[in-house]
Formats: sequence, structure tokens, C-alpha cells
Amino acid sequence: MTFCRVAATHELWSGEKLGRVINGRRVLLVNFGGSVCAYEDRCRHKGLPLSEGRMVDHVLTCAAHGWEYDVRTGCGINPATLRSRLQMPAIL
Ligand code: FES
Repeated sequence: MTFCRVAATHELWSGEKLGRVINGRRVLLVNFGGSVCAYEDRCRHKGLPLSEGRMVDHVLTCAAHGWEYDVRTGCGINPATLRSRLQMPAIL
């Protein structure tokens, strides 16, 4: 497993999100309560970047059509039929 530096800690405070392109792939970084998670920066609906969405508490809402995700788990919240979770980027 290899690691690459994608951001400094001061660029991603608790409660913030950040989009980065790493090796040609969009990655979403989320800091929730001091824990940082990485997901593919791609909404499960139509693929728009979730880094452009709005995060309130642990809920990230896609800016395009309002689909919602739990940033702690990557699981979909709304619509209720959204069962798939956000993918961890294969490059990490
Ligand atoms: S692309 Fe995200 S809700 Fe449609």
C-alpha cells in the first residue's frame, strides 16, 4: 500500500470537506469530529462532485438534486431507496 499527501491538516478543519484530484481521480475528503474519511467525489445519482455540496453536521447534500449521504459511513440517507454507499477511492 502506498500513501500520498493530499492536504495539510489546516486545510480541512472539523466539519469541512475538500475536493482533490489525485492521479486523475476526484477524491472527496471529509473531516467529521476530527476523523478524516476519503470517498470518490462522485454522487451516486448522476456523478456530480459531492465536494460542491453542502455539509451540515454529518449529512452531505449533493448540490445538484439534493441526494443526501452520511459522511461518517458513506451510506445514502435520502432518497430512502439509496442503499449503496459512497466508494472509497481505489487510489488510497
Ligand atoms: S447528481 Fe447528486 S443528486 Fe443528482
